[in-house]
Amino acid sequence: MPPRPRLPAGHQPLDQILFAQGFGARRECEGLIVSKLVSVRGELVDDPDAAFPEDRLELVVDGQPWVTHVKALVMLNKPAGYECSLKPGAWPGVHNLLAPPLRRRGLQPVGRLDQDTTGLLLMTDDGALLHKLTSPKHNVPKVYETTVKHPLTDKQIQSLMSGVVLDDDPTPVLAEHAEMVSEFHLRMSLTQGKYHQVKRMVAAVGNRVEALHRSSIGQLTLPEDLAPGQWRWLEDASLVLP
Ligand code: URA
Repeated sequence: MPPRPRLPAGHQPLDQILFAQGFGARRECEGLIVSKLVSVRGELVDDPDAAFPEDRLELVVDGQPWVTHVKALVMLNKPAGYECSLKPGAWPGVHNLLAPPLRRRGLQPVGRLDQDTTGLLLMTDDGALLHKLTSPKHNVPKVYETTVKHPLTDKQIQSLMSGVVLDDDPTPVLAEHAEMVSEFHLRMSLTQGKYHQVKRMVAAVGNRVEALHRSSIGQLTLPEDLAPGQWRWLEDASLVLP
């Protein structure tokens, strides 16, 4: 086969674009194109070598509209009953909730929510961004809506804000903000992300978490129209960076 001609910066042949987006092996992507199942910006393209910009390209692949993202960053409304682990055990993994091309790309959760925790979870295949977002220096506040078992007291709220000692570290951990929304509804904002941190902090002040939901990370709030189990591209990573 003759070498492919040099392409303009940021351009790739269509079969390579589909492959990188997660639409299957190279041959499968080529097959989709020659079978006339791919359109680009509304026009059918049946040449696998046709070159296009690889990022933010509007495709329809076998009936599925898709905008290409060279690096994927998505937000997910995590339902209960899914694990964030990459090798889930008793429960299905959160990656099952993503579109098949994203599943193939191996997106990783940015930090973890427990199996029974719901709400805002980020996932990405951008290694540098994942590193930044999970670094201990990345201390953007995360807001948790917590249903507790016993009526909240002012003393509990004060203790959460002044600091409580957990069993694995003598240094107290504190909520950036803690608020009694109602008798059994605690809103708490944390900048660290220790294992089971909300549940352990609430237990340390003598109460118990019955349900836990993450409603925001940094300046990003879980959109009201993103139903449990649904995902959406997050175009602006700066919303979740310090
Ligand atoms: N804190 C917890 O205890 N669980 C979570 O899932 C998140 C924060």
